[in-house]
Amino acid sequence: MSAEPTEGARILVVDDERVIREILAEFLTLEGFSVHTVEDGEKALTELRLRPYDLLITDLKMPRLSGLQLLEKIEAERLGVLTVLMTGFGTVETAIEAMKKGAYDYLLKPFKVEEVIHVVERALYRQRLQTENIRLREALTIYKVSEAIALSHDIEHILDVVLRSALDEVKADVATLHLRDPRTGHYEERVKIVSSQAEARHPQGGMPSPALPVMLEQFQQGVPILAHGGKASRFFTEHTMPAELSSFVAVPLQVRANLVGMLNVFSFTQSKKFDEGHRKMLAVLASRAASAIDNARLYGELRATNDDLLRANTSLEEMFQQTVAGFAQALEESDMYTRGHSERVAVYSEILGRGLTLPETELRRIVQAGVMHDVGKIGVRYDMLNKPGKLTPEEVAVFRQHPEKGKRILEPVPCLHGLIDGCWCHHEWYDGGGYPRGLAGDQIPLVGRVVAIADAYDAMTSDRAYRRALPHEVAVGEIERCAGTQFDPELAEAFVRLIDAWRTGMRERGQGSLIPR
Ligand SMILES: [Fe+2]
Repeated sequence: MSAEPTEGARILVVDDERVIREILAEFLTLEGFSVHTVEDGEKALTELRLRPYDLLITDLKMPRLSGLQLLEKIEAERLGVLTVLMTGFGTVETAIEAMKKGAYDYLLKPFKVEEVIHVVERALYRQRLQTENIRLREALTIYKVSEAIALSHDIEHILDVVLRSALDEVKADVATLHLRDPRTGHYEERVKIVSSQAEARHPQGGMPSPALPVMLEQFQQGVPILAHGGKASRFFTEHTMPAELSSFVAVPLQVRANLVGMLNVFSFTQSKKFDEGHRKMLAVLASRAASAIDNARLYGELRATNDDLLRANTSLEEMFQQTVAGFAQALEESDMYTRGHSERVAVYSEILGRGLTLPETELRRIVQAGVMHDVGKIGVRYDMLNKPGKLTPEEVAVFRQHPEKGKRILEPVPCLHGLIDGCWCHHEWYDGGGYPRGLAGDQIPLVGRVVAIADAYDAMTSDRAYRRALPHEVAVGEIERCAGTQFDPELAEAFVRLIDAWRTGMRERGQGSLIPR
């Protein structure tokens, strides 16, 4: 046992004999305790309700309220004070009985001073341990609850955990939680949980519903809400105060200076009354709950904003696709010979792109570039492009402007910038012999090198004004022949392999009529 700071501990001495009171008061004060004396049980009870005491030393035999009755009242009202009884020799049996009812120890009259000090020290030590224990248990509970709710972004889950912990920790019969709707400012009862403990009592006349304006005013003034029996009535309207309400605690859910809600617990068990410790414990729980709810709301708002952005992005993406499709349509509608060409070039570009295992975004860009590659032809006269026979040198010069024109069409539209390379570079040659810029090798963007092969393959395998479609074998032979000069040799090799595999797959799926013969 430690002789640690029992000094200053508050002791209440109750005895109807003035001499005993005076002696005890005198030497306990000399020992450094803060001592108060009263002459009967009733006065002791009043004093205990008013002020906290660490220890009560009471006579057993007293007029009005005996030591035993006082003990029962202390237990019933959960006044939470450790009790040491003083008794004469003849009443030791009663003293033992009293200890069974919750008294901590007893002193036999007449007592020696050292004996009293010893019992008092031991009782206070035990009291300190008890307090420490309760604090530890509370801290542990709050820690566990905090852990469970801190990372949750689900308000319903948070409310559920908080209410269940509240019920368990203070052994309440019912717990409810009101939340303030941030938009309307109204408080709504969000959760109500009835204890599932066998000994729990449920209200007969319906669930309690506290009068919110009264409670809000109390919270604003920083006055704690802890009331028993009839005294709790001021927190209820006439119709909502359950007759059998025994005890009631309400604590605010507060984040910084903002009240976001309140947590209420109710006891309908007459012997079960909440105390200041319970209220403090609930106050800490409520404060943790309030931050968790606040976080969850912030998270929800962030997510909603993100969803909005995502939706806006999606509609942009859709608009983009429509724009691309619109350009391709405009091009094809005025040129019957190239009808379907853009789409097929997109398909062949995709086959090659997928075979290169490019990232999905890059692949999408290549497919769209395939659709758009000839958009520059919108600015070129079609009758000239599809005439039978050879083009004159002037006509060739005009025709060769279409990659440059494509670039100029796309440039003013920021969301189409990703497609410029495909339009601008699909007539460049790997050996540098192409146009418009005469780029060579890796100077030509990948998308340009891919579309170039897809474009050539489709041009060869489609009917044109100046010739019939060439067979597939001839077309791939031509691509192989031009690998390293016109086409990127690696891409050409991959294309021939991939397009063969694709044709086989199409035939196996019964779609052989859709592939070049
Ligand atoms: Fe072209």
